[in-house]
Amino acid sequence: MHHFNYRDNELYCEDVPVKKIAEEVGTPFYLYSHATLKRHFMAFNEAFDGTRRLVCFSAKANTNLAILKLFESLGSGLDIVSGGELYRGLKAGFQPNRIVYSGVGKRIDEIDYALNTGILMFNVESLEELELINKRAGLLKLKAPIAIRVNPDVDPKTHPYISTGLKKNKFGIDIETAIEGYKVAKSLKNINVIGIDCHIGSQITEVQPFIDALKSIKVLINRLRDLKIEIKYLDIGGGLGITYNDESPPELNDYAGAIVKSLEGMPLQLILEPGRVIVGNAGILVTRVLYRKQGKDKEFIVVDAGMNDLARPSLYNAFHAIKPVVKSEDEPIKADVVGPICESGDFLAADRRISNVKKDDLLAVMSAGAYGFVMSSNYCSRLKLAEIMVRDDKFHVIRARQDYEDLIKGESIPPFL
Ligand code: LLP
Repeated sequence: MHHFNYRDNELYCEDVPVKKIAEEVGTPFYLYSHATLKRHFMAFNEAFDGTRRLVCFSAKANTNLAILKLFESLGSGLDIVSGGELYRGLKAGFQPNRIVYSGVGKRIDEIDYALNTGILMFNVESLEELELINKRAGLLKLKAPIAIRVNPDVDPKTHPYISTGLKKNKFGIDIETAIEGYKVAKSLKNINVIGIDCHIGSQITEVQPFIDALKSIKVLINRLRDLKIEIKYLDIGGGLGITYNDESPPELNDYAGAIVKSLEGMPLQLILEPGRVIVGNAGILVTRVLYRKQGKDKEFIVVDAGMNDLARPSLYNAFHAIKPVVKSEDEPIKADVVGPICESGDFLAADRRISNVKKDDLLAVMSAGAYGFVMSSNYCSRLKLAEIMVRDDKFHVIRARQDYEDLIKGESIPPFL
């Protein structure tokens, strides 16, 4: 359920006609519904009622400050993967002790930043990283709280680019090596072992892979207890999928219920890192039809948003529903929806049955709230889009569209040229 609905054949976001926003801010733009964001976060959090947990929104899915601030105000923690995300999180007001830091390639400056900030824990992804965090914490005269990210080798049955918990993936540490890692960690002076972490992939539409991962982790926790290593926090990452097209991901209560049941009798504090399931269906990308074009074999709808604005279709062949902002009576057509970029991979939809839109009509690319704006680029010197948040009957620009000055910010021509 979300708040993008038709009224008299016209698409609204909450109580604001999408067309009105397009007229005022121009196209393309990302558009988020405050009510949907809020409801999704609260529903996720409440699904774990009765369990000690900290839901840490996964910043990478959508890092806009306004969106981070909203989740912070609803009691969220934050899952970060870079110094930049830490900076944003602090700007949005997150308490450091509600921030967890994952990622295989943490740099020294990022480690120091997180240590000085006093985050809840580092999710350590290699033994070399563990040594480095210990060393940096020593220099700063601090103790670094850590979890080891284990790779349980389960198949999340998702797109290969976003599966992370298989032994062929670069993420985490396999169970046997993790035990060695914990022994080393326990012996390090500036490390405080507090948790265990695991994230097996994204857009997962079944409960079973999560439960399989937990099974291995429980065994590991018990083995660690035998070694007198007590685990306080269990971070099970994010990854719950959403409906883009015809997927039927588990209901939140089924997902939460299965996790809680599988951890029965274990006195742990749970950490969850949901991203997509909170923001994915709370945002759309609004784009305008520039031209219709009849190719030899195909019909093309050329729109003003491209692969630089929404990379998912080109990158993963991902499906995003595309709806007309104003419905027409015409029979739908079959077409490719393509952007202005000089690459054949620049499409938002291929061979799609779609409304018979004309030049200047508006289209809504649905389910674009997660991994949309955050993965956009300035390729072809295209300006990054505006982001808009609607609340009730008002809209707010939460990121201004870039201008040409922004494009060359920081560039300089050396004196010899
Ligand atoms: N925690 C960790 C350690 C992660 O790596 C991720 C996502 C999450 C949490 C959040 O996962 P979610 O709940 O959103 O599935 N760009 C891709 C998705 C990449 C996911 C990367 N990691 C896409 O557009 O589908």
